[in-house]
Amino acid sequence: MKAVALTRYLPISDPQSLQDMILPDPVPRGRDLLVRVQAVSVNPVDTKVRSPSHKVELAPKVLGWDAAGVVEAVGEGVSLFRPGDAVYYAGDITRQGSNSELHLVDERIVALKPQSLDFAQAAAVPLTAITAWEAFFDRMKIDPAGAHRGQSILQIGGAGGVGSIGIQIAKMAGLRVIATASRPETAAWCRELGADHVIDHREPMRPQLEALGLPFVDYIGCWNDIDRHWEAMADLIRPQGTICSIVGNRGALAQDGVRAKSATHCWELMFTRARFQTPDMIEQHRLLARVAAEIDAGRMRTTLREVLGPINAANLREAHARLESGTTIGKLVLVGWH
Ligand SMILES: NC(=O)c1ccc[n+]([C@@H]2O[C@H](COP(=O)([O-])OP(=O)(O)OC[C@H]3O[C@@H](n4cnc5c(N)ncnc54)[C@H](OP(=O)(O)O)[C@@H]3O)[C@@H](O)[C@H]2O)c1
Repeated sequence: MKAVALTRYLPISDPQSLQDMILPDPVPRGRDLLVRVQAVSVNPVDTKVRSPSHKVELAPKVLGWDAAGVVEAVGEGVSLFRPGDAVYYAGDITRQGSNSELHLVDERIVALKPQSLDFAQAAAVPLTAITAWEAFFDRMKIDPAGAHRGQSILQIGGAGGVGSIGIQIAKMAGLRVIATASRPETAAWCRELGADHVIDHREPMRPQLEALGLPFVDYIGCWNDIDRHWEAMADLIRPQGTICSIVGNRGALAQDGVRAKSATHCWELMFTRARFQTPDMIEQHRLLARVAAEIDAGRMRTTLREVLGPINAANLREAHARLESGTTIGKLVLVGWH
């Protein structure tokens, strides 16, 4: 099969950093599906795993986790899917990635693709949807059915992949969404996706929130640069409110501010369930099915912004370079094999 893989960890400007290769076709066993990949989207995690180091892989390593495709064959333990099913999923960071024509993935983290989306539109969704959904409903304990309707959530990094879907999911749960964006085009995108208000994360956020009549917010989703935003988050969260972060910290995070408020700070990592094979791993199948239903009902939309062309090393290097710039809006997708 065709695949895009690496053996060395090089800067993305180096043509060897991601290479076109022919690798053996994988064979599905147990609960694995063998998926014929039609489209993939790229995420910052792809670039983080690829980041330059002296490590050398003996066998080619395939990156890429978001995918949409068609089930080609199934392992003997599969009960949820059949060959021919069109599916979408975000995979498992401990296994080979989806930048290959054929890909193995555990059925418990896969769902039927939204019928109203084509493969490219569907591939944009899963990784970020799982992240935002788990952050809101599993970690912060917001009620998806609307019991927290009217409460406020600040989403820092509103126009990125996670924010773009997170704005929509929070609106579905009835929250008042304040998204952050620092450019006119990212602010416009956040509003288009349903944000009630947009403030600038490169300016002090307190006066901007106070101008909206909000001295505190009930929830904060930190989708970017926790070190930079930590102090502001501790200041802006309401007493006994909840902050969820999806990005790791580089320095120590002072606890005094959140401790004084008995605020909760929790972490979300969307690969946890697959990585540790948790007993509730099938929740990702259920949540992706729910997201597909919301999209098909017209209550959510794809966050695809741009298709960069077919899945090959040159286009993936371009996608990684764009992500590394930290300025992408919504999702970048590659579709088909040439
Ligand atoms: N834990 C998990 O499970 C998980 C899952 C998905 C992603 N992540 C991580 O979450 C981060 C965001 O992912 P993503 O896919 O949303 O990224 P992304 O699409 O690359 O985000 C790009 C956006 O980030 C905004 N941005 C840049 N610098 C910022 C800053 N200092 N503060 C706030 N916003 C800033 C920019 O908006 P403006 O131009 O308006 O500034 C830009 O539109 C990445 O580090 C990723 O690895 C973690």
